[in-house]
Amino acid sequence: ESSPFAAKGITTPVVERQALEQAEKAVSHLASQRNNRWYPAFHIASNGGWINDPNGLCQYHGRWHVFYQLHPYGTQWGPMHWGHVSSADMLTWQREPIAMAPTLPEERDGVFSGSAVVDDSGDLRFYYTGHVMLNGKDAENGTREVQMLAKADGPEVHHLRKHGLVVDFPEDLVFNDFRDPKVWKQDDVWFMIVGAQSKEHRGQILLFTSTDMETWNYDQILFEHPDPNVFMLECPDFFPLAAPDGKQRWIICFSAMGSKPSGFMNRNVNNAGYMIGSWQPGKAFTPESEFRLWDWGHNYYAPQSFESEDGRRMMYGWMSPMVQPIPMQDDGWCGNLTLPREVYLGEDGDVHTVPAHELLGLRSDTTTWDAMQLASGEERTILDNAEAVELELDIDLSQTTAERAGVKLHCTEDGAYTYVAYDAQMGRVILDRGACSNGDRGYRAAPLSNAELEAQHIRLRIFIDRGCVEVYVNDGSQVLSSYSYPSQGARAVKLCSESGSVSIASCKVHTLRSIGLDE
Ligand code: FRU
Repeated sequence: ESSPFAAKGITTPVVERQALEQAEKAVSHLASQRNNRWYPAFHIASNGGWINDPNGLCQYHGRWHVFYQLHPYGTQWGPMHWGHVSSADMLTWQREPIAMAPTLPEERDGVFSGSAVVDDSGDLRFYYTGHVMLNGKDAENGTREVQMLAKADGPEVHHLRKHGLVVDFPEDLVFNDFRDPKVWKQDDVWFMIVGAQSKEHRGQILLFTSTDMETWNYDQILFEHPDPNVFMLECPDFFPLAAPDGKQRWIICFSAMGSKPSGFMNRNVNNAGYMIGSWQPGKAFTPESEFRLWDWGHNYYAPQSFESEDGRRMMYGWMSPMVQPIPMQDDGWCGNLTLPREVYLGEDGDVHTVPAHELLGLRSDTTTWDAMQLASGEERTILDNAEAVELELDIDLSQTTAERAGVKLHCTEDGAYTYVAYDAQMGRVILDRGACSNGDRGYRAAPLSNAELEAQHIRLRIFIDRGCVEVYVNDGSQVLSSYSYPSQGARAVKLCSESGSVSIASCKVHTLRSIGLDE
C-alpha cells in the first residue's frame, strides 16, 4: 500500500498525534468556559468548538458511532477535523478522542465529510474527502478535493489510521467541488458516489466502482439535478427501501447548493432532500418523484444515513445554523445534530422519518392530561419550566374551529416564545420564531397531505431541548427542526388557541434525561 500510515499496528505518526493533542486542548479550553443555557441535553454536540455534518455513522460490533465535522479552534467553521462520540444503547453517549486532524498534504486544509463501511474482512473503513485550497488561504483560486481512506484500529474504534488517497480529482469531469463519498456493496461490486460540480456548473452525483475497495474506476453520472441553479450536490446518499407492497425503491439524497426559495420550499440557504426512483447497476438513477425536503425546519442540512445491525435505515442530520445571528457562538460551542431517525416508506408511497425507537428509553417520567377544550384566545400553561421534554399532542380537528391550534414553548418572562401550531388556513404545521428574542427569526411551514387533512386528527411529537426543537408530524410524514434560544428564566410550555376553540384529544409530557454529553 502506497500510503503514509498504512500498515496495521503502526503507531500514529508524530505529526498526527501532535495535531490531535493540540485540537483536544483547544476543545477542552472552549468547553471549560462553555455556557450551558442552550447546550443540548439530549442532542449530540461537541463539548467545545464548531461542528457541522454527521460523518462515519455506523453500528459496529454492537456499538453506535457518530463522527462529525469539527473545528476545534473556534465557534465558526474552520479547518475541519473529525470529532467522535459512541454509545452502546443510543441513550448514553461517551466522548471519544478526536479521530482525525488535517495533516496529510492531500487534506492540508481539512478532513471533510465521509462515511463508514465494513469491508470483506469485517474491518471498518472510512472514505472521506481531503480538501486543499490552492492558494493556501481561501477558495478564490479554486480548491482540490480528493477521496481518502482511513481504517478503524479495531472493534472498539477508538482511533482511526489513515491510508491516504484512493480517488484523485477527476480533472476532465469536474469543475471544482468533488466531495463527500458514500460507499456500499451490491452483487459483489463496491460502489462509491461523490458529489460534484460539473464543468457546466451543474450539481451532479458521480458513480465509481471497485472490486478491491482500493482501485476505483469512474462509472458514470448517477444523477444530475434538474434545476440549472443547483451547482453542487453535497453529501450524496443512495439506498434502497422496501415499499409496503414489497417492491424496492431507491432513494437518492443530497444537500443542494444554489436552489432558489419558491413558496414554502427551499427557504434555507442550502436545502437537503431526496427523490424516489429506480436504479440498477450499470445505469443512471431514474427519478420517479419530485424533489422533497427531509425536514422543513430552519436548521437542517447534510444528513447521512446508515444501516443498523438489525437492518433499519437510520439517519442523522446537522442542525445547520446558516443565518446570523448565531447566539450559541458566544457560548463556546456551535451546532448539534438532530435526533437519530428511522427512515421508511409509508403506505402513502412517501419516505417518513421517525425518532429511532431507542429514544423511548430517554423518557424518565410522564404526565398525562385528560382531553381538554381550549376556548378561543385561551393560553393554558401545562409546564412552568421545561428544559428537556418530549410533548405528545393529538389535536382533534373535527372539534377544532381555531385558525391556529398549537403550543408555545420556551416561553419566558420577557414575552418571548417559539410557536408550533396547526395552521388551518394553510393546512400546514408551522414553526414560528417571530416572537423569539435571540437568534434569527422567521417561520417555516410543513405540508400535510389531503389524507392527513381529512383524517381529522393531527398528532405531533415535539422534542424540546435547551436550544432547539424538533417537531414530528403524524408518525414522521414531515419533520421540522429549528434552533430556538430561550431568554433568561423559566421556560414554560403553553397550549393555545387562536380565533376559535381547540380540542386536544390527548396530551402527554415526558421528561427526557441527558444523553451524558452535557457535563
Ligand atoms: C456540507 C459540507 C460538505 C463538506 C463539509 C465541510 O455541509 O460543505 O460538503 O464535506 O461540509 O465541512
